[in-house]
Amino acid sequence: MTPLPVFVLLSLVCLCKSDDRLTPEKSLNAGDKLVSSGGIFALGFFTPANSTADTYIGIWYNKIPERTYVWVANRDKPIKNGSPGKLAMSSDSDLVLSDSQGRTLWTTTNNFTSATTGTAAILFDSGNLVIRLPNGTDIWQSFHYPTDTALPDMVLPLSTNDGILMRLIAWRAPDDPASSDYSMGGDSSSDLQVVIWNGTRPYWRRSAWDGSLVSALYQSNTGFIVTETIVDRGGELYMTFTVSEGSPSMRMTLDYKGTFKFLVWNSNSSSWEAFIEHPSPICERYAYCGPFGYCDAAETVPKCNCLSGFEPDGVNFSRGCRRKEDLKCGIDNNFSTLRGMKTPDKFLYVRNRSFDQCTEECRRNCSCSAYAYANLRNGSAYANLKNGSGAADQSRCLIWLGGLVDTGKFRDGGGENLYLRLASSTVDKESKVLKIILPIVASLLILASICLVWICKSRGKRRIKEIKNKHTPQHLQNSKLNELENESIDLPYICFEDIVTATDNFSDYKMLGKGGFGKVYKGLLGGGGKEVAVKRLSKSSGQGAEEFRNEVVLIAKLQHRNLVRLLGYCTYEDEKLLIYEYLPNKSLDAFLFDATRNSVLDWLTRFKVIKGIARGLLYLHQDSRLTIIHRDLKASNVLLDAEMNPKISDFGMARIFGGNEQQANTIHVVGTYGYMSPEYAMEGSFSVKSDTYSFGVLLLEIVSGSKISSSHFMTDFTSLIAYAWSLWKDGNARELVDSSIVENCPLHEVLRCVHIGLLCVQDNPNARPLMSSTVFMLENETALLPTPKEPLYFRQRYDEVEDQRDTMGITLNKMTITMQEGR
Ligand SMILES: *[C@@H]1O[C@H](CO)[C@@H](O)[C@H](O)[C@H]1NC(C)=O
Ligand SMILES: *[C@@H]1O[C@H](CO)[C@@H](O)[C@H](O)[C@H]1NC(C)=O
Ligand SMILES: *[C@@H]1O[C@H](CO)[C@@H](O)[C@H](O)[C@H]1NC(C)=O
Ligand SMILES: *[C@@H]1O[C@H](CO)[C@@H](O)[C@H](O)[C@H]1NC(C)=O
Ligand SMILES: *[C@@H]1O[C@H](CO)[C@@H](O)[C@H](O)[C@H]1NC(C)=O
Ligand SMILES: *[C@@H]1O[C@H](CO)[C@@H](O)[C@H](O)[C@H]1NC(C)=O
Ligand SMILES: *[C@@H]1O[C@H](CO)[C@@H](O)[C@H](O)[C@H]1NC(C)=O
Ligand SMILES: *[C@@H]1O[C@H](CO)[C@@H](O)[C@H](O)[C@H]1NC(C)=O
Ligand SMILES: *[C@@H]1O[C@H](CO)[C@@H](O)[C@H](O)[C@H]1NC(C)=O
Ligand SMILES: *[C@@H]1O[C@H](CO)[C@@H](O)[C@H](O)[C@H]1NC(C)=O
Ligand SMILES: *[C@@H]1O[C@H](CO)[C@@H](O)[C@H](O)[C@H]1NC(C)=O
Repeated sequence: MTPLPVFVLLSLVCLCKSDDRLTPEKSLNAGDKLVSSGGIFALGFFTPANSTADTYIGIWYNKIPERTYVWVANRDKPIKNGSPGKLAMSSDSDLVLSDSQGRTLWTTTNNFTSATTGTAAILFDSGNLVIRLPNGTDIWQSFHYPTDTALPDMVLPLSTNDGILMRLIAWRAPDDPASSDYSMGGDSSSDLQVVIWNGTRPYWRRSAWDGSLVSALYQSNTGFIVTETIVDRGGELYMTFTVSEGSPSMRMTLDYKGTFKFLVWNSNSSSWEAFIEHPSPICERYAYCGPFGYCDAAETVPKCNCLSGFEPDGVNFSRGCRRKEDLKCGIDNNFSTLRGMKTPDKFLYVRNRSFDQCTEECRRNCSCSAYAYANLRNGSAYANLKNGSGAADQSRCLIWLGGLVDTGKFRDGGGENLYLRLASSTVDKESKVLKIILPIVASLLILASICLVWICKSRGKRRIKEIKNKHTPQHLQNSKLNELENESIDLPYICFEDIVTATDNFSDYKMLGKGGFGKVYKGLLGGGGKEVAVKRLSKSSGQGAEEFRNEVVLIAKLQHRNLVRLLGYCTYEDEKLLIYEYLPNKSLDAFLFDATRNSVLDWLTRFKVIKGIARGLLYLHQDSRLTIIHRDLKASNVLLDAEMNPKISDFGMARIFGGNEQQANTIHVVGTYGYMSPEYAMEGSFSVKSDTYSFGVLLLEIVSGSKISSSHFMTDFTSLIAYAWSLWKDGNARELVDSSIVENCPLHEVLRCVHIGLLCVQDNPNARPLMSSTVFMLENETALLPTPKEPLYFRQRYDEVEDQRDTMGITLNKMTITMQEGR
């Protein structure tokens, strides 16, 4: 083939009109932008939302309404005072950004010195800005100088021969692109792992690379697949990710809080949704569980545990765990195999070892506490490097001298084996130890419990004779609940006797309410007479130790003005008790559905209640840094304080989601009919959007003063939702509004609420807004509202479940849950 056709082609390309490129003749001035040929990305000048003076050159998604920058050229050197800047190509084929005084603020540095006609800087649909010579050679590209975002097909070096690693560096604030202290990239000290740093301190770390070429694979609930791969370019390791064809826009970003997120654009809700987030669960932050402690993500609620053969060193995990039995050098050579583990940090990478040699490496050195082995053959990056010289080193033998920090257990069978050195006699001795020590421990325990009883009693006002002799603190015996002690919860254990005193031995006249879970009593605790609400779980409630623990651990970690506060807990024999702040106004349903009291709820109060519930939910879903799905939001689970501020209660069914989960499924659906979203009631699939649905129902109830289950609608409509839809569709939504408020309320505000309620109860979970959007729509009168689709799913009549749905919590079977997730 002659070069002629190529030149013809090139000149054709150059002749055609295009605004995806800069040439020496054509520079970019304020107000101009380049748009990639497919219209996906744009490059131009921008001023961040809240900054009036600083201007930057950046690349953003051209078609996405929420302005999202993926690259900023001059992040640390903005053009000041709104002076017009200019981006031009210099005579030596570099891009140069200058301000109106001609000062250079930013420039590319390729080593190309001669000017060649036909050189251009082209913005591609991948989001890459490339300086390309006329013969097709690229001499500079923005993908090699990332800001805080990686895009599909961009490669991040993990280990390079010259030791130069690119890091994503977070923005300083949502509206300030300047470099912050958070960065993410390969760890040059080991070449094997990816780390997020806060300054120079690690903040999150990924397990060491184990040779797999595909390091992670995620499938979203809408079907697209993200493949994260390790690529080998001449023995250097790079990380990249690709997405399946036809996927929506995706990016990998280190946000300004130092959180690494995989985000996907959801055009239905018009927002970015994170489907992977690190560090995400409670204990995933670097070394959170201390030396020899590990973050156990296999638990329903991820939590710190001690590695086997270790016990907590102190009350919480701030000092980690200590050996139950010290090692004896030369004698203790037994290794215990821990499966599915994240490799700890601070390893020694011993090259060119077989598995047995690696074991030996650890065994013969007394300070070695563990080792892990992988064969990098599959990955081949290191192997190929030495192809020519014959003996390729494919081994990855890691040994740890001293403490094991930042380890964890994966939930889904991921991770690798960690071989932990334990005292060989641990097992043998344990039985001997038991024989000698048990009696001592037992007598100590009895002594301790007598002391405890005594302390309790001296605090209580009344003596309770019948309990005198048999009390041993049940929470020290029950192994399941014992785990509560390991959790770093700051929650007081309250003596059963104190509670008996406080509630007058659970007298009926102290009872505030009852439901499927048991009874709630009002109590006066301690000498000061602090008012509390005591929830006494009935033995038949089905709330087993697991749900109890769930609730205690969960609420203890949550603090928000719109969530009810848990003050303490108690377990005693079969009794499980939760002690809450006392809220004088009881629950929302007591007002809303009571003809005599519902006038107390004027529109101002109702709107306050709606917004408060929305904020409480938003906190659960997002702001608490955990994703918590409440699963049983309804009027009777919203309590009101003296100022009628709403507080969400009853977390017995709540579920924590790791950042990488979008939805989960349960075999046994628990919750309350009417408030349950279609996908949850029918398929057992729940997500934050199922809470959005319940919120929508609640909102419609608050506006209308009618129960979702009210038979009032049964003649013409299947439910309140269908009724509300029908009125709204015909522009008659005013008729829905509770007659006790309709005269004295700002109608536009109320109708806006009905509109938002209908958005929340749409059949398709993807169409429902996130709580963040909901809060925004509620708080910004001018925010445009999308048009809701008609909710058609629940056509069956509700009366079959009439009896159940009014009870406060049809809690039922022990939950069996299957999860779908990546890691
Ligand atoms: C430019 O050249 C210098 C010295 O020749 C070299 O060290 C540097 O890596 C080169 N930079 C690029 C971007 O090629
Ligand atoms: C393209 O041209 C540059 C300089 O003119 C030269 O260094 C480079 O090797 C050329 N590349 C190809 C593929 O011809
Ligand atoms: C801009 O400021 C407003 C009010 O201070 C704030 O609500 C908003 O989140 C800010 N926008 C960004 C992008 O930071
Ligand atoms: C990051 O480090 C700074 C200073 O060392 C500290 O104040 C901040 O709390 C750290 N951030 C997190 C999320 O730990
Ligand atoms: C390497 O490949 C073998 C067989 O091809 C497979 O069984 C093994 O799981 C792979 N290991 C890794 C770490 O991918
Ligand atoms: C958007 O909605 C359509 C139909 O309503 C659905 O097929 C699609 O999966 C949704 N997309 C996302 C990203 O949720
Ligand atoms: C752990 O306990 C120590 C002392 O007992 C205390 O200083 C520290 O704040 C506790 N840490 C947590 C996370 O509870
Ligand atoms: C420890 O290893 C020795 C041999 O090294 C073996 O004889 C012994 O049974 C092992 N003990 C345990 C508890 O596994
Ligand atoms: C690895 O060790 C073997 C002997 O165990 C040796 O023959 C080989 O040369 C070593 N390879 C490298 C790359 O060091
Ligand atoms: C264990 O290995 C480390 C690192 O190789 C070494 O510094 C230390 O002296 C060794 N200890 C013993 C007892 O061999
Ligand atoms: C290394 O060996 C593999 C097969 O074992 C071969 O496919 C590859 O091309 C070799 N790489 C180099 C750089 O020789």
